[in-house]
Amino acid sequence: MKILMVGSGGREHALIKKLLESPKCEKIYCAPGNGGISKDAECINIGAMDIEGMVKFAKDGAVDLVFVAPDDPLAAGMVDAMENAGIRAFGPRANAAIIEASKVFSKNLMKKYGIPTAKYEVFDDPQKAIEYIESENTTPVVVKADGLALGKGVIIAQTIDEAKAAVKSIMEDKQFGDSGNNIVIEEFLTGPEVSVLAFTDGNVVKPMVSSKDHKRAFDNDEGLNTGGMGTVSPNPYYTDEIAKECYDTIFLPTINAMKAEGRPFKGCLYFGLMITPNGPKVIEYNARFGDPEAQVVLPRLKTDLVDICEAIIDEKLDSVDVEWYDGAAACVVMASGGYPVAYKKGIEITGLDENGSVDGAIVYHAGTKLDGDRFLTNGGRVLGVTAKADTLDEALKKAYSAVKKINFDGAHFRTDIGRTK
Ligand code: AMP
Ligand code: GLY
Repeated sequence: MKILMVGSGGREHALIKKLLESPKCEKIYCAPGNGGISKDAECINIGAMDIEGMVKFAKDGAVDLVFVAPDDPLAAGMVDAMENAGIRAFGPRANAAIIEASKVFSKNLMKKYGIPTAKYEVFDDPQKAIEYIESENTTPVVVKADGLALGKGVIIAQTIDEAKAAVKSIMEDKQFGDSGNNIVIEEFLTGPEVSVLAFTDGNVVKPMVSSKDHKRAFDNDEGLNTGGMGTVSPNPYYTDEIAKECYDTIFLPTINAMKAEGRPFKGCLYFGLMITPNGPKVIEYNARFGDPEAQVVLPRLKTDLVDICEAIIDEKLDSVDVEWYDGAAACVVMASGGYPVAYKKGIEITGLDENGSVDGAIVYHAGTKLDGDRFLTNGGRVLGVTAKADTLDEALKKAYSAVKKINFDGAHFRTDIGRTK
């Protein structure tokens, strides 16, 4: 099979490496890809949002399977466009990708179908939102822009004044553009967070092994929210008992709800959960693999990923036994100094071998480019240094010893990935 991966980050690199393990995978393209990905796939210079260009490439190149990994092209209907052109594509259609693309949609879905989530109200008028914040008078309070905002559209306000300022900056100053035409104001929840990715064909849902993301830029969960600074799998807080409760109260009801709404979800559905004192609740849904969750979950997948993708497209997921390796995996993200705000690009990375890897670890490239045979930084998150082992402690030791072998000016990584407080 010829496979086309859409996207350019560490998640896409992890997906490509897993797809390459399949005996069915004969050739893999990645558009647009990155420096490290080019060692594993043929990178094609088509932007991830160029739906027309992507369909044309898939058609002309007789691609057998297109894997749409990022949120934006999914929300923009890239899978629909592929299907309309007769091309098999993995990922939800736009009418299902809305579960991530609109928080108003996902919150209303959860309310309608009784899926546990934080209490909330939706506003399209900043004045009404501010009156509500004043009348509730509880802090912290969470203010969320409705639409996609590069993971930055969530503000946890510690004071009423901060909450009011958040409403103003999202709705009036349009800090996140049209994403902020509507906002959700919701109750602040507490408890450990768990990411559970799940394969689903719209009828059957098969949760993957759990993971834990570390979203803040600095150790001890300080600093700004990022796309994710590191992950571990399994998540130490996710017991078998909680997993069962999540399946019964969240995973299956969500799949059934989407089906009932005439928006069957096919692909990978990401459940961002919080294990609150009142049980597990949904913080967010994503319509895709998480990044860097994919980097620790996929190395643990034993079953052929091509088989799973095909079964999902054909709505036959119940016929596939999805198996996992025991043990654990850890991913430490090496980021550019200054990320997630301002950072330099084009800095030489040393310590990688010619394939962009190091002994004892899997190095997923997130933001790199090739300059001859040198790897240069080319993004905020640069590398996801990942290791597998029998235990989480060992996996973390292996990942961190690999990180020590790699260097670039200003390299920043958290030293406390996998640590539970
Ligand atoms: P989101 O983009 O929805 O994942 O939100 C980003 C982060 O904000 C989450 O990973 C949580 O840490 C935090 N967060 C979002 N909603 C809430 C909430 N209702 N209560 C507490 N923390 C939240
Ligand atoms: N790591 C969180 C996300 O992919 O949205």
